[in-house]
Amino acid sequence: MTLAFQVLSGTIGAEIADVDLARLNSGDFAAIHDAMLEHGILVFRDQNLDPDQLHEFAARWGEVHLHPYLSGLPEHPGIIEIVKEAGERNRFGAHWHTDQIFTPTPAMATMLYAREVPPAGGDTLFASLYHAHDALSDGMRAMLGGLRTYSIYNKERPRSRRMANKVTEREKPAEPAIHPLIRVHPETGRRALYISDTQTTRCLHGMTEAESRPLLDYLLAHATRPEFTCRVRWDVGSLAIWDNRCLLHMALDDYPDHRRVMHRITIKGEATIGVSDS
Ligand code: SIN
Repeated sequence: MTLAFQVLSGTIGAEIADVDLARLNSGDFAAIHDAMLEHGILVFRDQNLDPDQLHEFAARWGEVHLHPYLSGLPEHPGIIEIVKEAGERNRFGAHWHTDQIFTPTPAMATMLYAREVPPAGGDTLFASLYHAHDALSDGMRAMLGGLRTYSIYNKERPRSRRMANKVTEREKPAEPAIHPLIRVHPETGRRALYISDTQTTRCLHGMTEAESRPLLDYLLAHATRPEFTCRVRWDVGSLAIWDNRCLLHMALDDYPDHRRVMHRITIKGEATIGVSDS
């Protein structure tokens, strides 16, 4: 099958038409895998996947990851149902972040499948950490290359009661995870500015939060410049998969009167590699 791509912006993202993700042969899957490495985020429309089929598609990318703190569907613990009811705020993921940077082996990829969507709004934004890295000056890249960050799961972040109820009782006290600030992508070899929101990526190794904050704030603002982003609009049956090793994402909270339901799966990742480790 020849895949028909439509790019989503001048920087990242592509939509692939006329693909049934429940019926992919290995050649099609390999082409989709390569396309994700190239475009960072891929969108497929009009899918009709039950949780078994969604899980099956996810498992083609690697081991489905169980979130350390959030419980999933009873029959599929790897699928987290993200629900926002009419009248609630959508606080889940409504800030720029990369998934599971607070663990030593953050998710390789994340998949979202739209089950119910508002008539307008509820889009998700994505930003390329490759482009953020490449746009830094030589001097800044040289300085950041030796730095490491501390990230920690923020249990206190405001959530709707519905999503807070998914935070399991069994959670262990969160330990900070340490990662290189410039990450080398294990498959493409490209360099990415590897940061998340500053409630999660709290400080730089060997520095206080107060000392780190101005630089981290600057880098997050830099990484989310509009020219490094694309925007995904959801319809029921849309599925997106993105490379969490080189992208930030953020859910928009702009549909106060409507319900939205998404199924989310993450794929297990590996220990991060920095420029001085490679
Ligand atoms: C997430 O951050 O994983 C959720 C994004 C969304 O709901 O659009």
